[in-house]
Amino acid sequence: YHKIGIVGAMAEEIELLHKHVVKTGSFVKAGIEYTEGTLHGHNVVFCKSGVGKVNAAVCTQVLIDAGADCVLFTGVAGAVAPSLNIGDIVVSTSCLQHDFDVTPLGFARGQIPYQDVWEFQAAPDLVELAASACERLFPGRSLKGKVLSGDQFIASRDAVRGLYEELGGACTEMEGASLAQVCAMNGVPFVVIRSMSDKADGSAHVNFAEFTIQASVNSHAIIDDMLRHL
Ligand code: ADE
Repeated sequence: YHKIGIVGAMAEEIELLHKHVVKTGSFVKAGIEYTEGTLHGHNVVFCKSGVGKVNAAVCTQVLIDAGADCVLFTGVAGAVAPSLNIGDIVVSTSCLQHDFDVTPLGFARGQIPYQDVWEFQAAPDLVELAASACERLFPGRSLKGKVLSGDQFIASRDAVRGLYEELGGACTEMEGASLAQVCAMNGVPFVVIRSMSDKADGSAHVNFAEFTIQASVNSHAIIDDMLRHL
């Protein structure tokens, strides 16, 4: 890759990138700041997206227009697969918008009408690179699976059970599938890496608040390890 786009959801994580990237420039577009530089010999451009699908879509397109030829996303998510515990990591094999709902017109849950593809596949080489980084750093605590995104913080047992049983999700968050769709529209490879901050159930709001800083450190470590081994 000539230039690696990195999107973080959290300020804590972007601060770690600011610390470690050797900077060559920065610019602002649509109110979001982008920083360019090098990390372990690779050209990178990174930003903090802000929360939600629209923010993630805009910054992904800006990264691609700035020359990013692959995009990595790191942040936290609510665990959906019952085998996952807080602190475990999900590497996306694919991403789907769980809140896309045109079911009254006969479309499947998550389906984008009149479009062949609505579950966007992550790049196999980036998935393997991320999965190996997880195995090196957090052995036995990661899985590869489907990342479900929506403009909703999921915090009930019924909602999270539905995401697992109806959509087969591994985790749920608020940006991945939007970044994935923009990458697919541009033919740019991507992978989403998420540390589990909560189980998207009745305790999710408490666990989320507790876990953010550790998760930022963990996901930064994964990105760092990936670039070392690329
Ligand atoms: N990010 C972290 N936890 C989440 C949850 N439960 N729902 C949506 N996004 C999240």
